Amino acid sequence: MTRDMVLAVPDQQAEPVTPDVLDSLLNTPVTRGVGGVAVWRIPTASLGDEELEVARDWLDEGERQQASSYVRAELRRAYEIAHAAARLVVGAVTDTPPEKVVWGRHACPGCGEPHGRPRAEGAGVEFSLSHTPGQVLVAVADVAVGVDVERHPDDPVALARLLHPRECEEIEAAAHGTLDGGRASVRFTRAWSRTEAYLKGIGIGLGRDPHLDYLGTDGASSRTLGAWTVRDVVVPEGYGAALAVLA
Ligand SMILES: CC(C)(COP(=O)(O)OP(=O)(O)OC[C@H]1O[C@@H](n2cnc3c(N)ncnc32)[C@H](O)[C@@H]1OP(=O)(O)O)[C@@H](O)C(=O)NCCC(=O)NCCS
Repeated sequence: MTRDMVLAVPDQQAEPVTPDVLDSLLNTPVTRGVGGVAVWRIPTASLGDEELEVARDWLDEGERQQASSYVRAELRRAYEIAHAAARLVVGAVTDTPPEKVVWGRHACPGCGEPHGRPRAEGAGVEFSLSHTPGQVLVAVADVAVGVDVERHPDDPVALARLLHPRECEEIEAAAHGTLDGGRASVRFTRAWSRTEAYLKGIGIGLGRDPHLDYLGTDGASSRTLGAWTVRDVVVPEGYGAALAVLA
């Protein structure tokens, strides 16, 4: 993985991705068209405790241990729903019961160790998941894919320093009222979710410094970086989300 900076080229005409909403893991049929990429959004509040109890049984030992390590209940709930939903949609598109889906990892492009992008063994599809209190996204595709959903932060200017210097300047200018086109928190969440979706798609995650790549804080819904297309995903007010797909 090169340390070179990458500048994305925005597409002002593109539309954002509108995910299918799954408000039940037991009673909503999951279908996916042939080819391409499909994205599902699960509003975590829409699932009842009894339903989650059933879906929790699909998780493997590693997922149960990881879930129990979360101290905050809302984080644990989002993790469990994300992993159950990923099992449901990957299982549905590969004709496998959710509890029979077996997770593995691709090699990390940074060091070659098996902690890169997650994969479903023998499934023949790529997937990515993201969870934050209140919202979960799962993407399934025939090609490498990364998805990310984030809540707007309380202090976007402090966090902006983690991003590309130009993105940081744009967020600071929005906070000082000298740049129109989105509040500072909206601009931060756009840039962060675009960057993280891209880095998850590559499989390096935050092993590559997020200040290296410029994905922008503006309202353009799509941009290209080399072989990747990074599109914004429609999520409720208070969140931002993006999807990165390898051409
Ligand atoms: C991937 C990462 C960005 C996720 O951050 P996050 O915002 O906290 O969490 P999200 O909910 O959006 O995504 C989490 C999911 O990303 C996926 N993921 C984890 N590592 C990944 C990677 N390297 N590439 C792509 N996806 C990854 C997993 O499905 C994970 O789900 P889980 O934590 O429930 O098991 C972060 O965990 C990371 O960067 N990890 C690797 C860091 C690193 O230093 N790697 C070593 C390089 S040598």
